[in-house]
Amino acid sequence: MSETHRGRQTKDGIRIYDPSDFAGMHVAGRLAATILDEVAAHVFVGQTTGEIDRIIEEKVNAAGAKSATIGYKGYKHASCISVNHVVCHGIPGDKKLKDGDILNIDVTVIVDGWFGDTSRMYVAGKLARKPERLIEVTHEALMRGIEVVKPGNTFGDIGHAIQAFVEGNRMSVVTDFCGHGLGRVFHSPPNVLHYGRPGTGSVLEPGMFFTIEPMVNLGRAETKTLADDWTAVTRDKSLSAQYEHSIGVTEDGFEIFTLSPSGMFHPTYTKSD
Ligand code: MF3
Ligand code: CO
Ligand code: CO
Repeated sequence: MSETHRGRQTKDGIRIYDPSDFAGMHVAGRLAATILDEVAAHVFVGQTTGEIDRIIEEKVNAAGAKSATIGYKGYKHASCISVNHVVCHGIPGDKKLKDGDILNIDVTVIVDGWFGDTSRMYVAGKLARKPERLIEVTHEALMRGIEVVKPGNTFGDIGHAIQAFVEGNRMSVVTDFCGHGLGRVFHSPPNVLHYGRPGTGSVLEPGMFFTIEPMVNLGRAETKTLADDWTAVTRDKSLSAQYEHSIGVTEDGFEIFTLSPSGMFHPTYTKSD
């Protein structure tokens, strides 16, 4: 029997991992988070997103890991870098960052077959007040979603916690993209929606591994995908932000696999802060 057939699945097709599988996820998650820590020093006015991606690829290789995104559905880069009104799946390139640009950097690595997937917000130059609020609300929304994760609660509880907080701050949650199960594979059931009603959706069980990765817009929620078939932008050109963690459900709550080893999550934090 192949490895993918090992273990139990719920009736909704969600894989239940063993307690011993958490260790592999921690190693993969920590590498992805460490790379995001280190990349902060390389985000500045005049820098290109292509150069940031090159540095990320180099760090993945130096760690003896593999990039999960290179070769994924034809994608060619070690990261997605989504600037300003780009919601997600921004393709690194030779455009230079300008003063005040905000950007999400999303990295997924494979270590010993385990996937670590995480993203954070950064700023080039000076962060203006409005984008700062957007970024803070987005991070807080992710953490509020994570905090309701425990056996017996549902995926709808997660989505509701995120949506209620974002809309309470008069911002909008993107509904065109969602989080996902991961573990031995990149994207697997369930779809983790960032909106919903309490008590709906699959029930959380110990051993479920998935991402939560809310995208939040200052304007309306609608997105469109550009002709490159990857880049998703806000239809109204409003600013968008995103944070992503890979987590596991434990007997009494959750474990975050992708926490920053140096406590960096605010876009103005650099290594020396
Ligand atoms: N890391 C993204 C996620 O959070 C997926 C990127 S797929 C890519 O699921 F091909 F665009 F890189
Ligand atoms: Co993801
Ligand atoms: Co990701």
